[in-house]
Amino acid sequence: MIRKAVIPAAGLGTRFLPATKSMPKEMLPIIDIPTIQYVVQEAVDSGIEDILIISGKGKRAIEDHFDRNFELEARLEEKEDQAWYNEMRRLADMANVHFVRQKEANGLGDAIYYARHHVGNEPFAVLLGDTIMDSVIPVTQQLVDTYEQYGGSVIAVEQVPADKVNRYGIVGGTSMSDTIKELTTLVEKPAVESAPSNLAIAGRYILTPEIFQAIEQTPKGKNNEIQLTDSLLLLLKRENIYSHLIEGKRHDIGNKLDFLKTTVEFALKRKEFAAPFRKFLEELLATQEV
Ligand code: G1P
Repeated sequence: MIRKAVIPAAGLGTRFLPATKSMPKEMLPIIDIPTIQYVVQEAVDSGIEDILIISGKGKRAIEDHFDRNFELEARLEEKEDQAWYNEMRRLADMANVHFVRQKEANGLGDAIYYARHHVGNEPFAVLLGDTIMDSVIPVTQQLVDTYEQYGGSVIAVEQVPADKVNRYGIVGGTSMSDTIKELTTLVEKPAVESAPSNLAIAGRYILTPEIFQAIEQTPKGKNNEIQLTDSLLLLLKRENIYSHLIEGKRHDIGNKLDFLKTTVEFALKRKEFAAPFRKFLEELLATQEV
């Protein structure tokens, strides 16, 4: 059983400046919901209520978001706005959210290492805090199901075009089924010529606690950071690791174009905006000279 999730949210957000100079990228909202709330909701929908967020400098807004806000609650009660009052209470109670701060931005592997005391000796889920998954079955639930069937760490992957493999961790392995591979290699942001496949690590993992020892032994890699992908390659010498081809769509909110696309896509799915927003887009596109 997977009871704990770790959400790394300590990155500096350099791909989304200037917005992220003083605001965490994980708080960028898609319409009105901050990215990290979608991520916490995915964990909760996958049956995980113990959540550790790895935060860092300038990330206090994330803590406030999952805390009570008595002044706001009192004002909503005064206004008899029961729906928003209930939603604010639900938000503060939706999970047991804990925090630990990464002291220096030393990479994803280093960020995960901060979770070792909280996680202890059990397998746990990792959900990147700047990535939203849109799927029927929560992607973390999909990984939990594969973990229960195969054991060993499980990594969510998706296919990416050849010209994008150098932006991701890429895996290679032997097929166990249409969606699952037993891995033989992993490499962080390879050149396309040396990439083992076009299967990219997609920001969701189930990790066994042995990962912590592997991280301790991992030298600095790409960008002079401790890369989780390198630690997984070390772990592969001791344990089986599986990739799971996800059913769903990944939205990388730290990327400006993806952020825009996600906003439009989600707005077109929201009951109250779908019709007027579609009309607006159609009219805009008809009058725009491109
Ligand atoms: C991280 C991981 C990479 C993975 C990617 C997915 O990279 O290191 O393996 O493919 O997330 O979003 P980053 O995007 O932080 O550079």
